Amino acid sequence: MYGPRILVKVPASTANLGPGFDTLGMALSLFEWIEMRAADETTITAYGKGMQDIPGDKSNLIYKVAQLVFEEAGVSVPELSISLYCDIPLTRGLGSSASAIIGALVAANALIGSPLSEDELFQIATKLEGHPDNVGASLFGGIVVSAWDGERADHVRIEPHPSLETLVVIPSFQLSTEKARHALPKTLNMADAVFNVGRSSLLVAALSAGRLDLISTAMRDRLHQPYRAPLIPGMSNILAHASEHGALGAALSGAGPTIITFVDGSSSESSKAELERFLLDTLAAEGIEAETMWLPPYKHGAVWTKLEEHDTTPLMDLIRNEVRA
Ligand code: HSE
Repeated sequence: MYGPRILVKVPASTANLGPGFDTLGMALSLFEWIEMRAADETTITAYGKGMQDIPGDKSNLIYKVAQLVFEEAGVSVPELSISLYCDIPLTRGLGSSASAIIGALVAANALIGSPLSEDELFQIATKLEGHPDNVGASLFGGIVVSAWDGERADHVRIEPHPSLETLVVIPSFQLSTEKARHALPKTLNMADAVFNVGRSSLLVAALSAGRLDLISTAMRDRLHQPYRAPLIPGMSNILAHASEHGALGAALSGAGPTIITFVDGSSSESSKAELERFLLDTLAAEGIEAETMWLPPYKHGAVWTKLEEHDTTPLMDLIRNEVRA
């Protein structure tokens, strides 16, 4: 092994926030770490729940994404030593693939002296994901509003309101984004389109202005959640009634199956506990096991550090105090 050793910490994300399908994203305090350096031979070591199944050779997503950066920069680094640890549950709607893509882009770019700008990394990531919402949040942190025309993605970052807390309920089953996108109709009627433009615009304005009182009405959606509801039994019930149990609003997180609720941080502990119970009981009534996690909005995007070349501390020792498990 030789050359610098780069360690990247990337946040998870929630996409859509209800009405902002493929447009709104928010970084969450749950992380993946990727360590990368040039090597004589490619090795990929993954730690964390479910990570034993990811490819350990050059077909690995992180390896392939890193090579895109080297190609774009016109340099050759064919062999890499990669270690990663992921606390983000896979295929649950918390942006694990976007975090992996962003982590790989940022690590590879840092490894070769950062020739690509953040914006260039965002463009590559958006093309790879097919939508900018999760990758934007993982790259820039906070709440990210973005629009992509298939060529270029533009974005504006919003600082999350200090009182905004988020509680997610994560069902034990996986749901692929592909399957959840397949459930969507090809066309929409005008009334539903207008409904969503209004809600999404109101939500962005409310989040920017700290109008937490508007969140419940602003998080409503007619564009994707109603069509995805049959894939997540209990979801419609949660979306319709979460605000009666202490939530400011609720939405399917990305393509699901995780459901995210927004909560006013100044609510009492008993009201927060009631909301957790409501989420778990509603899914349990459908025979679905789930776990809840309080995941505060995360203000920062992916950050990297360069370790001393002679520092051979294993990844898990470097991040021991930060991992969830
Ligand atoms: N906006 C995307 C969707 C996010 O809802 O399908 C999931 O990756």
